[in-house]
Amino acid sequence: MARLTLQALEKTYPGGTKALDGFDLDVAEGELIAVVGPSGCGKTTLLRLIAGLDRPTAGRILLDGRTLDGVSPRDRNVAMVFQGHALYPHLTAFGNIAFPLKLRGGVRAEIERRVRETARLLGIERLLDRKPRQLSGGEQQRVALGRAIVRDPACFLLDEPLSNLDPRLRDELRRELKVLQRRLRTTTVYVTHDQQEALTLGERVVVMRAGRIQQVGSPSEVYHHPANGFVAGFIGSPGTSFLKGRLVKDAGRLWFEHGAQRLAVAPWAAAELSSQCDTAVVLGVRPDAFLQTPHGGETGNELRAVVESVEFYGDVFHAHLNVEGSILVARMAARRQVAIGSNAVLCVDLDRVHFFEAAPGSEEPGRNLCATLEPRRQQVAHLI
Ligand SMILES: Nc1ncnc2c1ncn2[C@@H]1O[C@H](COP(=O)(O)OP(=O)(O)OP(=O)(O)O)[C@@H](O)[C@H]1O
Ligand SMILES: [Mg+2]
Repeated sequence: MARLTLQALEKTYPGGTKALDGFDLDVAEGELIAVVGPSGCGKTTLLRLIAGLDRPTAGRILLDGRTLDGVSPRDRNVAMVFQGHALYPHLTAFGNIAFPLKLRGGVRAEIERRVRETARLLGIERLLDRKPRQLSGGEQQRVALGRAIVRDPACFLLDEPLSNLDPRLRDELRRELKVLQRRLRTTTVYVTHDQQEALTLGERVVVMRAGRIQQVGSPSEVYHHPANGFVAGFIGSPGTSFLKGRLVKDAGRLWFEHGAQRLAVAPWAAAELSSQCDTAVVLGVRPDAFLQTPHGGETGNELRAVVESVEFYGDVFHAHLNVEGSILVARMAARRQVAIGSNAVLCVDLDRVHFFEAAPGSEEPGRNLCATLEPRRQQVAHLI
């Protein structure tokens, strides 16, 4: 177990691509942290720097407070499972798992004992004599994990280790991996472009984009209190929908106006947003932030919309709703009848919407204007 510290890490490739920029992160001893972001945002680069396969342009990497600068990959005591999990094709599963131990020059009987113990942990004892081509994708994945685990490293670096598996197997292996990590308590940085995977796996989640951290927090924090419009849109399936509008004061209340419609701002949010009155903002609403029963308009939580399309997911629908030219996605109970082209009145849970800066010259909403976590953020999702 080890504590991993990244300080002002920066990586610019020879061609000029800045893959990491001002990256600061502290991973606690034994923590499982999930790093998530779109393709090309610098995730693999980050792991390669920690593993020592590449050198940072600036910044420091510390393991238990000691700098890794100048320490060779072999001596870093970190184990990386690569994207695509390349195994040595000419070696058996046993040979692949034993490889890092042989490289270190261990005693044969001890190597054998550790490989078998690791294989038992991963449920692949009966596969040890097979070559990679005789293994399924999921089995190969387990062997690749075994090769990392067998070294008993201070830190695991996992680069999308489940990405080329079918969804069911991926879910199963992800659960196993989480249990295994709990047992071993090895500090782990798990990289994925799949936000769902990051939320289900990570004790904390790091959302990154274009080499920069956008937010670090518990899965619940990044879901319920996104730091900015990017995180709100990226996290969640589907992500947050946005409505452009203005904040206005009327009849002693703060309102969000979108075209001819308006929503009341919850009192706790209004207290923080009063200085933003008469400015353009972007409202963010998650598919599950709608209430079941209309309240007759008095509470200022209704939006009128036209149903544009509906996606059936078995237990729920996702309805795409046109609100004066902007599309909102709402999760609806499957029993509800929703006809395409029909009018719908939506009841928004005013405690669960977000207000983002309307960044000038950008289509994407900026930072979250409320610092407070909404009071009801832990509530179970409503289905309308
Ligand atoms: N060796 C290299 N030389 C030049 N540019 C590179 C090199 N490796 C990566 N890059 C660039 O750096 C950026 C980050 O790449 P990286 O592989 O870290 O992304 P990633 O987040 O792992 O993406 P993916 O999800 O597709 O694996 C990209 O723009 C990529 O094109
Ligand atoms: Mg990558």
